[in-house]
Amino acid sequence: MNKNTKIYIAGHRGMVGSAIWRALETKGYSNLIGQSSKELDLRNQNSVENFFKNEKPDVVIDAAARVGGILANNTYPYQFLMENMQIQNNLINSSLKADVEKFIFLGSSCIYPKMAPQPLKEDYLLTGPLEPTNEWYAVAKITGVKACEAIRKQFGKDYISLMPTNLYGPYDNFDLKTSHVLPAMIRKFHDAKLNGNIPVELWGSGAPMREFLYVEDLAEAVVFALENEFQDNLYNVGTGTDLTIKELAELIQKTVGHNGEILWDSTKPDGTPRKLMDVSKMEKAGWKAKVGLEEGIKSTYEWFLENQENFKEVKI
Ligand SMILES: NC(=O)c1ccc[n+]([C@@H]2O[C@H](COP(=O)([O-])OP(=O)(O)OC[C@H]3O[C@@H](n4cnc5c(N)ncnc54)[C@H](OP(=O)(O)O)[C@@H]3O)[C@@H](O)[C@H]2O)c1
Repeated sequence: MNKNTKIYIAGHRGMVGSAIWRALETKGYSNLIGQSSKELDLRNQNSVENFFKNEKPDVVIDAAARVGGILANNTYPYQFLMENMQIQNNLINSSLKADVEKFIFLGSSCIYPKMAPQPLKEDYLLTGPLEPTNEWYAVAKITGVKACEAIRKQFGKDYISLMPTNLYGPYDNFDLKTSHVLPAMIRKFHDAKLNGNIPVELWGSGAPMREFLYVEDLAEAVVFALENEFQDNLYNVGTGTDLTIKELAELIQKTVGHNGEILWDSTKPDGTPRKLMDVSKMEKAGWKAKVGLEEGIKSTYEWFLENQENFKEVKI
């Protein structure tokens, strides 16, 4: 791909979008464009179509979405379904109309059925009921995958979907009301350390197993997908290895330097026992994750320490 190719990164201020932006810049791509949600509300079809008419991007990477945890999904099911469909539909349809040559859609592992066998293969899509707590978000993402697949089938264009596992890294959300498990643990252990190593209380038994990918690795996967033509429409992106939540907590505790107790509140739900991506399809295509969990958590904690003054309160 030519380094002057005009690449529009939707959601370039988010954790994922900003990592993709940095990765592309590092690789020498010099014609990147991005808009904040204030400058361009992707839910608005007219605004998005006008933006495409004016800017004429060659490539579009969709890292824009309304994201959130179980609480936010449960409280605002309509917004999670509708806003995500609006954002991706406007981006995908405007890209098709504007003859965008390559489109990369980002979803998440929640698109797969709750009871699907582990590790999760791309083929398990639409083979069973979804996890109810985030099915609104998942249904929206599934329609995005299918829209890209339909364009590929009907128009022969290189529109693909990448499904990352749980991500973490710089620009993550450390607000305990809305954050995911890994940044929430960093925040809890850090705060407890500053408060005289008081005990840290964590939800559940610690037994569930999860997989985590450093966001800069995902950005590398996106660059790889940009620079190579894939044979198929849907690819999982992860490390292919998992660990228990208890092991994760101990790793974060060690990295943060908290010398206190961990209390497991087993009255709180554990969630799905295991969630691991099968990443063999992406590996066959030629891409593999590089950053180990210990190294990734260390970098993330360093970023947290340098940037914690600037955290904004996140509204659900
Ligand atoms: N975080 C994870 O663990 C994870 C895991 C798997 C997949 N993913 C996927 O990665 C993608 C990005 O996630 P993220 O973690 O980077 O989220 P994030 O940090 O919350 O960023 C989301 C981005 O979307 C933009 N956005 C939201 N609503 C918009 C609107 N109406 N108009 C224009 N822009 C809008 C935001 O723009 P502003 O900042 O300008 O408001 C922001 O830059 C999502 O598709 C998500 O499913 C994330």
